Amino acid sequence: MPEDRTEQPHIVTCTAPVNIAVIKYWGKRNEDLILPINSSLSVTLHQDQLKTTTTVATSRSFQEDRIWLNGKEEDITHPRLQSCLREIRRLARKRRNDGDSGVDSASLSHKVHICSVNNFPTAAGLASSAAGFACLVYSLARVFGVEGELSGIARQGSGSACRSMYGGFVQWIMGNKEDGKDSLAQQVEPETHWPELRILVLVASAERKPVGSTSGMQTSVKTSCLLKHRAESVVPGRMVEMTEAIRKKDFAAFAELTMKDSNQFHASCLDTYPPIFYLNHVSQQIISLVHRYNKHYGETRVAYTFDAGPNAVIFTLQQHVPEFVHVVQHFFPPETNGADFIKGLPVNCASLSEELKQGIGLEPMPKGINYIISTKAGPGPRVVEDPTQHLLLSDGFPKKTM
Ligand code: DP6
Repeated sequence: MPEDRTEQPHIVTCTAPVNIAVIKYWGKRNEDLILPINSSLSVTLHQDQLKTTTTVATSRSFQEDRIWLNGKEEDITHPRLQSCLREIRRLARKRRNDGDSGVDSASLSHKVHICSVNNFPTAAGLASSAAGFACLVYSLARVFGVEGELSGIARQGSGSACRSMYGGFVQWIMGNKEDGKDSLAQQVEPETHWPELRILVLVASAERKPVGSTSGMQTSVKTSCLLKHRAESVVPGRMVEMTEAIRKKDFAAFAELTMKDSNQFHASCLDTYPPIFYLNHVSQQIISLVHRYNKHYGETRVAYTFDAGPNAVIFTLQQHVPEFVHVVQHFFPPETNGADFIKGLPVNCASLSEELKQGIGLEPMPKGINYIISTKAGPGPRVVEDPTQHLLLSDGFPKKTM
């Protein structure tokens, strides 16, 4: 290889999805390795609507590892970033020593520059750390030529990130080994399995969450006996039932389990001492709205779930989307009723009957919801082949447009 070419950075860009848990992960048995107290299960959201893009470059000329997140340089010494970098380099070294020709030996001694952006506002309180760490680990693996199981490394960035390593319906098996080697994510069904399933993210507020999930779950593990009961005696059965509901595409069973599990997670937060509140008055109104809507039709057509913040994620079937979106729009009248209220997959028009409005019978809550992102289940991380999409220039620094 000519001498000057070795100065050219090796650049890889990848994208990774957000996931939303329908059986929640809350609580660790090992803080450093990020090992959970229960298994969990999620749906990977489509990257056309929500994704992280990460570019990783390695070069002999780089002096140190560096990272830029959403346009701002961040501290690379963060322990979770260090865990992911260390584990990928360790795996690459091991593979090279085992004689794997795919490993880029030269880059193993090189420093990395990392640049990552989300296509959704971080402040919207959507699970950006899961997509972020999944994308980081996937891109690092590509740049160093590492293949195979990577969810165990993504897990060490953020627990829920291990589930963003796969598309469709994904379980994170808690495992029981002390070293965490069996605490991995696994696809339950691919994204093509249930094409009628639709997901609506109701962005309730742009405020940042009051208590982060990492510290929140620490306090819950220490103080909540409901959480202990949940992890030991409730979740194992629910994992089996949920997998079965998904396999059979049984929406009513899927929806009921999803809502009950979200409610029990938030009940465990309330059982934490001092208590943690993630739901606000808008979230509570959405819960009432969903139950009244289902009751009106005498069947479970819609389900809600909430993570460590007030935004609701709604699951429903394609045929109910137009009406339900208009129900939301009616009971949470936005400032402007324009197209801006609904982002993502197009939603057809629907009219609401007086009977339905009266059946629901709630007082409208103006401006309670900022906007809705309409999406569906989607694929796992991907390599972006087009070099014009790289977030780092050939000098290894972020493009100025960011
Ligand atoms: C409520 O994965 O963000 O979204 O492992 O400490 O990084 P750390 O926590 P994180 O927790 C996610 C919690 C949740 C439920 C879930 O996604 O399963």
